[in-house]
Amino acid sequence: MNKKGLTEETIFDQLNDFQKKDLKYNSGRILGSMCTKPHPIAIKAYTKFLNSNMGDYGLFPGTKRMEDEVIQMLGGLLHNEQAYGCVVTGGTEANLMAIRAARNTAKKEKGITSPELLLPKSAHFSFKKAADLMNLKCIPLELDDNYCVDIDFLNENISKNTMAVIGVAGTTELGEIDPLPAISDICFDKNIYLHVDAALGGFIIPFLNVLDYDLVDFDFKLDGVCSITTDPHKMGLAPIPSGAILFREKKYLDVMNIDTPYLTMKQQSTIVGTRSGASVAATWAVMKYLGYEGYCEIVKEVMFNTHFLAEELVKNGYELVSNPLLNIVSFNSKDCSPEVLLKYLKNNGWIASLSTCPPGIRIVLMPHITKEHIIDFMDCLKKRS
Ligand SMILES: Cc1ncc(COP(=O)(O)O)c(C=O)c1O
Repeated sequence: MNKKGLTEETIFDQLNDFQKKDLKYNSGRILGSMCTKPHPIAIKAYTKFLNSNMGDYGLFPGTKRMEDEVIQMLGGLLHNEQAYGCVVTGGTEANLMAIRAARNTAKKEKGITSPELLLPKSAHFSFKKAADLMNLKCIPLELDDNYCVDIDFLNENISKNTMAVIGVAGTTELGEIDPLPAISDICFDKNIYLHVDAALGGFIIPFLNVLDYDLVDFDFKLDGVCSITTDPHKMGLAPIPSGAILFREKKYLDVMNIDTPYLTMKQQSTIVGTRSGASVAATWAVMKYLGYEGYCEIVKEVMFNTHFLAEELVKNGYELVSNPLLNIVSFNSKDCSPEVLLKYLKNNGWIASLSTCPPGIRIVLMPHITKEHIIDFMDCLKKRS
């Protein structure tokens, strides 16, 4: 560390140098990320609430009120305005909280001491972190021909130790939606905790359904769904870190409560202690500012771009891994592996990613990617052949 402090000017010169090395969403070159440029109103709200700590919300009742309103708005989108929950750092923390709630409930209500988690092969790796932290046995669920949970396989693998089933609404690699109505029926009948990971889909599917898409029910409309992850810092246009976890019943938060003697509230159910009030304010502001119609416009645009890219790829001889349901396209070249193609793209300044199951080049059409970027991207692919 330097002994004497530097001037503001020197600090900002150095910050600018660091920032120059980072990729910019506006360039359209970031093709594999589920994060995007936050909405300007969210940035403004975020900076206004930098001091608020939701880990000691008795000091910040105004910010806590906003958090309650965010959970109510998200609950409204997900068919349950009475949902309980909190704003967290992102999908990983939301999933960790859901698994902790499910594990504690299974122990309390059913006496399960060797808990098993039924986890689709397509689920995000955050669940493996949860299983590792909580010493859970993971049973991987096979997928069907559409890369969604195989219902027969799920049924065959439920045991007396099953503590929870995970369903995904918008898989990380392909954007697929598991057959959640059927999964919910099974879990409801057998009194098994069902968590839906809609980290991506939570800010897309509710808007697509009013735009005449016919996607399956995935949220609290289904009786078996106990909790849902939805991420404002993905398609919600909030700044990083902004995630959310919603529970159908308060008992799922209560079962995680830990006494907090030195704070303004008596107990805490979140995993982290100090928690960003800025993320709460930013999420509140952008949801209020855009409203339902604003998000519909954004979702319409990303889906237009998704179909445009998919059609251009097919026209130019590439093979789609699946027909895109949400804003993710995964594709392959007939003449080289995804790894070789990924490297070619990287050498030309395009940072895509790989899907593994099945293999392909994976592109997430976030709002920072425009039609013009897609045309440039296709030009790059055409130069290859
Ligand atoms: C379906 C799904 N769940 C959870 C996560 C984890 O979210 P985060 O990176 O915000 O922790 C992701 C990230 O891409 C995801 O796609």
